[in-house]
Amino acid sequence: MAGQLLEVHDLHTQFFTRDGVVHAVDGVSFELAAGETLGIVGESGCGKSVTALSLMRLIPQPPGKIVQGSIIFDGADVLKMDDDEVRGIRGNNIAMIFQDPMTSLNPVLTISRQITEALELHLKMDKAEARKRTVELLDLVGIPSAKKRMDDYPHQFSGGMRQRVMIAMALSCNPKLILADEPTTALDVTIQAQILELLKGLAKEFRTAFILITHDLGVVAGMTQRIHVMYAGKIVEKADTGELFANPKMPYTWGLLRSIPRLDERRKSKLLPIEGLPPDLIAPPPGCRFEPRCQYRRDICREKEPALEHIPNAKPDHEARCWGTQQGGWLVDIDWRKEVGDTRIIEEIKQEVAQLPPEPKAGDVPPPPTAL
Ligand SMILES: Nc1ncnc2c1ncn2[C@@H]1O[C@H](COP(=O)(O)OP(=O)(O)OP(=O)(O)O)[C@@H](O)[C@H]1O
Ligand code: SF4
Ligand SMILES: [Mg+2]
Repeated sequence: MAGQLLEVHDLHTQFFTRDGVVHAVDGVSFELAAGETLGIVGESGCGKSVTALSLMRLIPQPPGKIVQGSIIFDGADVLKMDDDEVRGIRGNNIAMIFQDPMTSLNPVLTISRQITEALELHLKMDKAEARKRTVELLDLVGIPSAKKRMDDYPHQFSGGMRQRVMIAMALSCNPKLILADEPTTALDVTIQAQILELLKGLAKEFRTAFILITHDLGVVAGMTQRIHVMYAGKIVEKADTGELFANPKMPYTWGLLRSIPRLDERRKSKLLPIEGLPPDLIAPPPGCRFEPRCQYRRDICREKEPALEHIPNAKPDHEARCWGTQQGGWLVDIDWRKEVGDTRIIEEIKQEVAQLPPEPKAGDVPPPPTAL
């Protein structure tokens, strides 16, 4: 579609291991408009990080390789760029925030050096300008006494503060897109909530396009305008956030909804109580990949893979990959609320969703945050 900031089409990323070829991302397509926020949700190992790393061409090769597809960012094909062009994209246009800031921060450089270096290199600021901007950025992300603390080393900061520094670094070059991969999983509950609030506020204020990756549907609920659910290397459901919580159309999503931990329990949330395990991505099942775990399965589910397509009784841009909820399927009229059980948490989430900023319209994206 014209006018999108990011268009990913039929992306296949594989790892060539001694045991066989891991089909980590297996035909993923999606778009993102400038200023839009998207959540990618799914259990561990479903291909969320590999999708994000593919967008930035950060897949370790070998053993990994993007074997098929296209990634069009701002009109240019990332997969056809030379190394210099890709480095330019990473520094200036797409920023990534990882789960563990210690893996991205250099332990032997001060915080200020790590931010000013990027500002000098990418925005061509002189030293004094870059230091001034660094203080502003650290203030913005809530580092107390930023001017005093900026010359500390990463180990002198707590985990939450380091994640704030990562967010400041991500914002430093006014990126058009921020990819946040489980940015709060390593933090304790209170800090987690603070960092999410910070990200939410910044995304709202600057209208930077934003992809938030998490295994917890509850986390994306109040943060992103659209949600894509991933399972075993594929997108299995796409909808806007309100629609996904009001009218989910895929038994796997029902399982995720059932397993949303309350905020005070999120620390323990790695154990998702959907019975069974995701399939081996070296030899995934030929039909629906969720079939071995799905309580609604029928013979066709094992024999033939369902396409990701629009389903009845849903908004036009709502798609799911399920024989049961597609036209004529046996789950079209099922009351998913009864299937999910306790819906109190979902009601709470819906209230959070109601507070989301409206979808940006064309031309409605403000300029990048130069005047902090
Ligand atoms: N370097 C690698 N070599 C071999 N397989 C890999 C490699 N990196 C990732 N994979 C495989 O690719 C698949 C997708 O992994 P990915 O890291 O994207 O999962 P994820 O959804 O981000 O999970 P998590 O929630 O645990 O971070 C997994 O089966 C994983 O084992
Ligand atoms: S296609 Fe079948 S097995 Fe797969 S989620 Fe739908 S009902 Fe379950
Ligand atoms: Mg991951």
